[in-house]
Amino acid sequence: MLTIPASFPDNFLWGVSTSSHQFEGGNTLNQWHDWESAGHIRSGHACGDACDWWQNAERDLELCSQLGLNALRISIEWSRMEPSYGHWSDSAVVRYREILREARRRGLRVFVSLHHFTHPRWFEARGGFLDAQAPELFRHYAKRAVRSFGDLVTDWVTFNEPNVYAAFGYLFGEFPPGRLNELNSTLSVFSGMMRAHAAAYDVLHREQPEANVGLAVNYVVFEPARDNILDRQLASAYDTLFNRATLSYLQGTPLPLPFAMMAAPVPECAGKIDFVGLNVYNRLHVRAPLGEKFGPGGLHVPRNVPQGDRGVAAPYGEAYPKVVSAAVEAYAPLGRPMYVMENGVPDRTDRIRPWLLVNSLRELRRMWQLGYDVRGYFHWSLVDNFEWSEGWHLRFGLYALDELTQQRTARPSAEIYRQIIADKGIRRETLEQWEKAPGE
Ligand code: FCB
Repeated sequence: MLTIPASFPDNFLWGVSTSSHQFEGGNTLNQWHDWESAGHIRSGHACGDACDWWQNAERDLELCSQLGLNALRISIEWSRMEPSYGHWSDSAVVRYREILREARRRGLRVFVSLHHFTHPRWFEARGGFLDAQAPELFRHYAKRAVRSFGDLVTDWVTFNEPNVYAAFGYLFGEFPPGRLNELNSTLSVFSGMMRAHAAAYDVLHREQPEANVGLAVNYVVFEPARDNILDRQLASAYDTLFNRATLSYLQGTPLPLPFAMMAAPVPECAGKIDFVGLNVYNRLHVRAPLGEKFGPGGLHVPRNVPQGDRGVAAPYGEAYPKVVSAAVEAYAPLGRPMYVMENGVPDRTDRIRPWLLVNSLRELRRMWQLGYDVRGYFHWSLVDNFEWSEGWHLRFGLYALDELTQQRTARPSAEIYRQIIADKGIRRETLEQWEKAPGE
């Protein structure tokens, strides 16, 4: 009998993650469409039909079956559900129900995100999560979602990466609304989203007692570039703000100083979490003093580290499997089940993806063996999709996508993942083959 040294538990979830704007196509009523129309996609690409899911999600559900997946993460698009304020679309519900039914028929446990970076234009016009009414508006939307899909779904992700949404929209200017260096707004948006999370958590549980409600946080390892106090302090400030603020909110503890002085606490969200989703990709190196030479905010990616493809204007980040264990250790104190809800690398030629996939899973398994409550892995992503400001430039798929013909072609990583899932573990020869990153 074949022995699998790195084996996973029987009930482990094997999935892929997706999002509405990046996959469905035709989402013209949200703020990302306006951002694209204003010329902010660095590659100059248009989202267009994306991966054509609004018409043909079923084609990719078949690929999920071929991989042997038992789980899938999608998001529903608020701007389809509530295209204008207070007007709810029945046809959007009909289409999402078709997709959810088909996914279930294929034995996929579906996690549904309510917000994955996009929301209706009318909501953005009110100020997005800076609007004091935002939590109430989000609560209505969550209620609508659970009433529309609650017979098909019990696993809900309120928000995808509030930390990325707030930082990229209000600190780095890379996501709509494109604001730059507004630390106060960043923290207000963050706490607005956490208030909205708490409101959604309550209504989902009220409407559906068996609801399982979490959120997904992006976790990055910030590494001091040199062993000096300035680099260490700056790295620690990033870690506090980016990685640990969500944890503080969920634990009901104030953000550490000096951030506590800028961010209102959100006592109502303490303990309101049934599971944690960890989106884990990168390590960034931090070098003070701040200076353009080392990238915005002193963050940079050294040349000699494992990396996927570069973004249009800057490196994407160091591909770093150990971020899996760092994130699991950081969020374990919440005492809730954890899922890797995204992990992947932009890699058109599949040069480094097999290494990243195998070694991230090896890290996750190590954490499970150490007794951490990790229950699943969702790769980002099934097929190439519209990568926000990078457009079609960065390719994250286990399957390559020709967005003009909508043809899918498996990359070698698809077969590696299929095999790991079939074996419920990683074979010794696979571990050995991918022990080192290509070029190391
Ligand atoms: C994550 C996002 C996801 C995708 C991956 C590459 O931060 O949640 O939508 O863009 O990065």
